[in-house]
Amino acid sequence: MSVKKGRVFSGARPTGRQHLGNYLGAIKNYVAMQDDYECVYCIVDIHALTTVEDTFNLRQNTYDMALDWLAAGIRPEETIMFVQSQVPQVTELHTFLSMVAPLGKLTDLPTFKEKIRENPNNVNYGLVGYPVLMTADIVLYQSNLVPVGIDQAPHIEFARELVRSFNYRYNSDALIEPQMKNTIIPKVLGIDGVNKMGKSLNNHIELASTPEETQKRISKMVTDPQRIRRDDPGDPDVCNVFSMHKIFSPAGEVEMINVECRRAGIGCVECKKRFAANLNDHLAPFRKKRIELDANPQAVWDILHDGAKRARVIADQTMAKVRAAIQLPL
Ligand code: TRP
Repeated sequence: MSVKKGRVFSGARPTGRQHLGNYLGAIKNYVAMQDDYECVYCIVDIHALTTVEDTFNLRQNTYDMALDWLAAGIRPEETIMFVQSQVPQVTELHTFLSMVAPLGKLTDLPTFKEKIRENPNNVNYGLVGYPVLMTADIVLYQSNLVPVGIDQAPHIEFARELVRSFNYRYNSDALIEPQMKNTIIPKVLGIDGVNKMGKSLNNHIELASTPEETQKRISKMVTDPQRIRRDDPGDPDVCNVFSMHKIFSPAGEVEMINVECRRAGIGCVECKKRFAANLNDHLAPFRKKRIELDANPQAVWDILHDGAKRARVIADQTMAKVRAAIQLPL
């Protein structure tokens, strides 16, 4: 096997069945990075507990997300794929890190402010420590690189500073300072054509839907709002269906739509049908594999257990260094 360029860690909250936004924003990249890096991908169920909505159906959501990751091409023989709570060392490291984490910085983070605005009745202790737990995730597995979207950049910067503070405080090099790998992620809009695709707004297209459901969902997509009647010319540059064509359709078809939409040569109904057909083709192998995997749920849990077992080996090595650095008794 070829030599890998370092260790990548990424985590995602267990949000259940994944949608196109998750796929284009994270999963596709997770799959690709396996070729060049040693990858550790974590379903962060403890992080999910910070917000109440995410705690409903936690176990089922964990299973559904794992299933989608595997069906999309995560290779558990090489990649460590596991559930956060199954390596409890992370909570121990979180506690140690919390002693060097500046509270003012945590409460200043834009993500924290947003959370308390969204849930003013649930401003819990865990929410403040969210980025500390995230740092514990990354450094417990001695990761060099963290692929995340730009919204997570302040968390990675926080993690880097926290690692430096820890190493400085205990005069050690126990923890590795990670780097952010800023992946260019297209902003995926929902079928409303305005908001980011997400479950909570119910504007999403699920990967695991049937071709018929997918077609139905796509038929509701908002296109160029100026194009009202079939014979109005449209502007693909402001049309979310066209953005999707650019990702999922063959170049020739994209070019044809780009020309014909502008002169009302093709209507939105046909344009959406073509997108649905291309997306369904693209997802066919994923859906087939997902059904196969879902026939044996225990095998999926076994993959996660095996991942946690391998993760615990690395975690124990890190914790030995951390305990030595702090001078905790042996
Ligand atoms: N905070 C990330 C999110 O909300 C999830 C996450 C938890 C994560 N731990 C991580 C991402 C470690 C990267 C690395 O999406």
